[in-house]
Amino acid sequence: VLDLIEDVRAGLLSPPRYLPPKYFYDDRGSSLFDLICETPEYYPTRMEDSLLSRYGQDIISRARPGRILELGSGTSRKTRRLLDACEQLAHTCIYTPYDVCEPALEQAATELLSAYPWLEITPLAGDYHAGLGNLPAVEGTTLFVFLGSTIGNFSDAEANAFINEIRQCMQPGDFFLLGADRVKNNAVLHAAYNDLGGLTAAFNLNVLSVLNRELQADFRLDNFAHEAVFNTQFSRIEMYLVSSVQQSIRLGTLAETIVLEPGDRILTEISRKFLYEEVEKLLADSGLTVINHFEPDNGYFSLVLAQLGCS
Ligand code: SAH
Ligand code: TRP
Repeated sequence: VLDLIEDVRAGLLSPPRYLPPKYFYDDRGSSLFDLICETPEYYPTRMEDSLLSRYGQDIISRARPGRILELGSGTSRKTRRLLDACEQLAHTCIYTPYDVCEPALEQAATELLSAYPWLEITPLAGDYHAGLGNLPAVEGTTLFVFLGSTIGNFSDAEANAFINEIRQCMQPGDFFLLGADRVKNNAVLHAAYNDLGGLTAAFNLNVLSVLNRELQADFRLDNFAHEAVFNTQFSRIEMYLVSSVQQSIRLGTLAETIVLEPGDRILTEISRKFLYEEVEKLLADSGLTVINHFEPDNGYFSLVLAQLGCS
């Protein structure tokens, strides 16, 4: 709650209003995100999953990881493709899912243990921005995994800082597997963040319920509308909650009141869409060299395996 109080003070009390994405993922938020991934409009999950199925064995046989460490693992569903590849190659390893949402982490661990009895799972619950400094040491190489184009939810500076932090934790010979969504037709992008079933809207609005619960606030969800638009200049989806009325919201825990006019917006998420060259540069800027780039025929998504440069 201390983080939340600080973040709300910094972002929500005056315009431009914004919230960090991690607060989406309470128990309900994680379940909603899970449902978004199955909507016909949200193509990234299917794209990435099929790349992991197709190239999982290439990745595992190249990295031969002693540990797979996944940041923001959620349900770990796509990671199963890598574990399947381990099985096919008779390779065993430790899996360390790292996520801020504890219920999701626990459920994933339980399900994975029954599906992969040979797997040793050592979950880490917490905020990966708080530092990756004291990861337990393991035998062999670590394959760091960051899927779902979550990298796109960071600004350029944040993305650089994050990859740099991962790089600092890497030992010589370690690998990094990154999934990043690509620039494409505007209508396809727009649909992916405006599913007709309204799940993305419900997910976006759910962050207000989190504030209500954690900060004794009185946001009325029906006074806000979900808006997701592609900003061509910055090549990113911007997700907003837009006030539909004039309203004042009390934040009990902070002893603050927010006044919003109709049309006032809170930025809740950005989702950047990359050119492949930009992904490569992001990695290169932290001293990581691309070993393999996997993409579908339509170039909708990039799965990139990188390693500490040897130059
Ligand atoms: N990797 C999964 C989930 C992506 S959604 C996929 O590709 O489908 C983003 C995930 O990151 C959620 O599970 C969320 O709980 C987690 N997350 C968000 N911010 C985080 C943070 N600061 N620290 C740790 N986990 C975080
Ligand atoms: N990493 C995902 C993405 O950028 C997160 C996401 C998907 C998301 N749909 C969303 C975040 C809707 C907020 C609202 O695609």
